[in-house]
Amino acid sequence: MSTDKLMYIGGEWLESNSGQRFESENPATGEQLGTVPRGNGDDIAVAVAAAAEAFPAWRDTPPDARGRWLLRVAAALRARADELALLLATESGHYLGKAQGLVEFTAQNIEFHAGLADKARGATIPAGPGRLALTRLEPVGVTGHIVPWNYPLFLITRSVAPAIALGNTAVVKPAEQTPLMAVALAEVIDEVGLPAGVFNVVTGFGEEAGAPLAAHPDVRSITFTGSVETGQLVMRAAADHMAKLTLELGGKTPVIVFPDADVETVIEATMQGILSRCGQVCIAGSRLLVHDDLYDEVLEGLVERFGQVKLGDMLDPATQMGPLVSQEQLQRVEGYVEIGQQEGAEVLVGGGRPDDPQLQKGYFYLPTVLGNVTNEMRVAREEIFGPVLVAMRWRDEDEVIGMANDSPYGLAAAIWCKDITRALRVATRLEAGGVFVNEWIGEDFKAPHGGYKLSGIGRENGFECIEHYTETKHIAISLEDEKTENWCDAPL
Ligand code: NAI
Ligand code: MG
Repeated sequence: MSTDKLMYIGGEWLESNSGQRFESENPATGEQLGTVPRGNGDDIAVAVAAAAEAFPAWRDTPPDARGRWLLRVAAALRARADELALLLATESGHYLGKAQGLVEFTAQNIEFHAGLADKARGATIPAGPGRLALTRLEPVGVTGHIVPWNYPLFLITRSVAPAIALGNTAVVKPAEQTPLMAVALAEVIDEVGLPAGVFNVVTGFGEEAGAPLAAHPDVRSITFTGSVETGQLVMRAAADHMAKLTLELGGKTPVIVFPDADVETVIEATMQGILSRCGQVCIAGSRLLVHDDLYDEVLEGLVERFGQVKLGDMLDPATQMGPLVSQEQLQRVEGYVEIGQQEGAEVLVGGGRPDDPQLQKGYFYLPTVLGNVTNEMRVAREEIFGPVLVAMRWRDEDEVIGMANDSPYGLAAAIWCKDITRALRVATRLEAGGVFVNEWIGEDFKAPHGGYKLSGIGRENGFECIEHYTETKHIAISLEDEKTENWCDAPL
């Protein structure tokens, strides 16, 4: 069943100026799901203009009312949860159980950010007896959101919900692999009746629609999640008009196992960390660093358990892992496993596509562990973005901190260690935006999320995201009836 959809701009459903369309496919079956307009710079210009037109009235909407609009969106999302989960399962390869959980997680994420609308506040400044000084947080205006395909619903709302809550308007460019999900969210928002132009979606490809959005001079802030290379292009484009920027660019999360860790717990969490979403997760726990005392036991357990993971139909409740999102991602993962072997790594389990002919139609790849890896190998330094775990041994605390930090990335890290003094000491020394101690949490929208080094700049979620969607205005007010100082005596 294929559906043909339109873009959502200024509260209307539009074709692209280009007149062209492109297909969205099911990565588990290769089946075509529908088409969307192939938006370009002209469409971006129309969408930015619509968002700019909607901005003054939205900015002046009382904050609590803006929050309530978002609560309505969350409720409408829940009301359509089955339909949205099905689309997530078919378009992006989240198996249905996971997809249902993600729709609920997204609704909660919107509710959290809705609450920021009337809670983000400025400060009063101790400016002395003669002056009242304060800061006021004001929305920036039109915000741009360039979104990837791995969590195509949650990742739109993660940045759009705070942007809108804080009085901005938004233009979204979803990934070309998952445009139908963004259109489905627009349908929900349209049904809720959010004022026209507050939320806009332009479907299209990165260079054709994403690049002009980043470069548009009226876009005052840009939120980007994706690859380092594209993030750097977006950053350069933003420099020309000095847009605010949040970049979330992935990582090579070290999972550090100390000798006192519980092996069974570590195995279960390591599987979640690297196999959830088939490893196509920015914080995927892709670098396993196990103390020599436990290395053999942990690896033995992982190899056995990886070999039992059930790949299959996205709608089958027994399925535990879905496919990679595209042929391109499949080739990338296959390429990295080959590179690893050329570098001297050994495939301990997996290392190829499943034999099942049913799975040949999709982009499935087996859960894979590479052993005999060193931290210098490309497979240990570069983001594979697939179900491929690299495992390394260590003996000494300083050594493992060095290994963990010897990475171009710094998004997250995990520590398995019952000695809490040691665990916290290590946590403070890791170069990572998030550290999980004795648990794998994935992401908590109540807490800041972002990275050190090549993992990006800025923070999403929590109260920390407020900075990205507001300008801070300092207002200084004299409390003196008349000025006593000579103008030429002033220091500035
Ligand atoms: P990408 O970074 O190229 O794409 C992400 C988004 O940026 C998409 O919406 C895309 O259309 C857009 N885009 C592409 N080129 C653009 C440009 N020149 N200007 C503005 N926007 C542009 O990522 P891609 O190609 O889908 O995946 C490549 C690798 O990136 C993955 O293998 C993975 O390592 C990493 N990645 C990381 C993600 C994360 O969650 N941090 C998400 C997706 C990809
Ligand atoms: Mg790309």
